[in-house]
Amino acid sequence: MKFFIDSANLEQIRSIQELGLLDGVTTNPSLMAKEGINNVDEHYQAICKITEGDVSAEVLSTSYEEMVQEGRHLAKLATNIVVKVPMTFDGLKAIRTLKQEGIRTNCTLVFTPIQALLAAKAGATYVSPFIGRLDDISSEGIKLIRQIKKIFRNYQLPTYILAASIRHTLHVVQVALAGADYVTIPYPTFISLVKHPLTDIGLEKFLKDANKI
Ligand code: G3P
Repeated sequence: MKFFIDSANLEQIRSIQELGLLDGVTTNPSLMAKEGINNVDEHYQAICKITEGDVSAEVLSTSYEEMVQEGRHLAKLATNIVVKVPMTFDGLKAIRTLKQEGIRTNCTLVFTPIQALLAAKAGATYVSPFIGRLDDISSEGIKLIRQIKKIFRNYQLPTYILAASIRHTLHVVQVALAGADYVTIPYPTFISLVKHPLTDIGLEKFLKDANKI
């Protein structure tokens, strides 16, 4: 399973890259706003310089024509940009057109298996099911990943499942068990993957005992 970081923060992205665990980056308008970015294009280019992996850059328009125009523009910023397009009627049309032009896409805000199937049929490179937001409304987020996996296997669809809206370590374990191809992880969760209290206690004891040698 490949690891993306779900962040627009350059330091966070760099830190996971230096750890050797970074396969790419996903951003969204909320993450970009959080960083107070003035020049969005330059910021995407800065992210693309840190990683050779795919970097999702989301369109901000909602009509088919504008999404396609925006997608073409974003794709020109760097060779590893993937255009993130929302799951809407216009979004599906835009995904198909961008695919015909050789531009890769990530269909975002996917909450049902049928939305994922539609995105795959439209030619999306990635589909992003949001599991944390389903959990938030007392629906079982992980079930969505399992269903999409089954459907994509049934029809040998080449679209990658990119598990998104990850909130904690258990989500990462669950999506790995369910066979997600990619997972996009927020920085604090990335850090918590390494941690276990028994590891810390065990290390402390080993170091203490090492003094007795
Ligand atoms: O980048 C999309 C997704 O990962 C957002 O997560 O935590 O805002 O539901 P969240």
